[in-house]
Amino acid sequence: MKGIILAGGAGSRLFPLTLVASKQLQPVYDKPMVYYPLTTLIEGGIREICLISTPQDLPRFRQLLGDGTQWGLVIEYREQPKPEGIAQAFLIAESFIGADPVTLILGDNVFYGGDSFQRAFAEFKSGATIFGYHVNDPERYGVVEFDAHGQAISIEEKPRQPKSNYAVPGLYIFDNQVLEITRNLKPSARGELEITDVNVEYLRRGQLRVHRLSRGFAWLDAGTSSSLHEASAYVQTIEKRQGIKIGCPEEAAFHRGFLTLAALEALAQRMPRCEYRDYLLNEVVAEARRLSA
Ligand code: DAU
Repeated sequence: MKGIILAGGAGSRLFPLTLVASKQLQPVYDKPMVYYPLTTLIEGGIREICLISTPQDLPRFRQLLGDGTQWGLVIEYREQPKPEGIAQAFLIAESFIGADPVTLILGDNVFYGGDSFQRAFAEFKSGATIFGYHVNDPERYGVVEFDAHGQAISIEEKPRQPKSNYAVPGLYIFDNQVLEITRNLKPSARGELEITDVNVEYLRRGQLRVHRLSRGFAWLDAGTSSSLHEASAYVQTIEKRQGIKIGCPEEAAFHRGFLTLAALEALAQRMPRCEYRDYLLNEVVAEARRLSA
């Protein structure tokens, strides 16, 4: 399974924050926003990742994430010159995807809790798997309607009159048909290749599974000043209360077996003295030592 992080867009809703750094590089509490979707992919066992962003912002992503070897990953980069739709990511990353299935995650979506994604990755064989999450304001999202048996029967992008409260979060698992489906898409009225149209086509083919995410699961979309602030407050609350970190790629890579304990320790030792380094050394490394003693 390949992974794509889509981290482009105009960032206009966060202006003037986005004048010098793109939305996905802004902090969500104690780390850059893109760390959270990156960690979600690592937790799902995905090692080959392509990050797509604007030509202006790509150099900063490269500076932040490098080629991924520090986390046992391979990270490639591709440009999206204009925000012409989420689904355009598949065309931009076509040579990266090759003949494999692919997971696309939006660079401003923060997920936390449960193992729904891990299970979906492990169970995925073909077709498409997406998720449904109960929200208060479904009209802002892709909305999925279910029949009495829990089968998805329609998906609409930002409907005026939503047929349910289930929004589709920004994590999509597709088999390789996604390339052919996207090649045949027409831009929508807003001039974009819509991810919802990809999902609708899988639904038409009878190959779309929609997993409903449980109540305890958190999906935060950090796309506006308020939701960015709320996402930071949420992460801070959980981290302080539990003494853990959310969205820590080093820790996830270690737990997934992408990094040995020695490699993790060496990586942390190279960091400047800071709370992040202390967490890795005093919690993650120390805990692993305790368990293996
Ligand atoms: O967050 C989930 C929602 O994301 C889904 O429920 C919707 O079905 C889906 O269309 C999308 O809706 P948004 O209106 O929130 O998408 P937005 O245009 O804000 O783009 C989401 C992220 O993707 C944003 O961080 C910018 C990035 N992006 C977007 C487009 C259209 C790109 O990098 N390139 C693009 O061309």
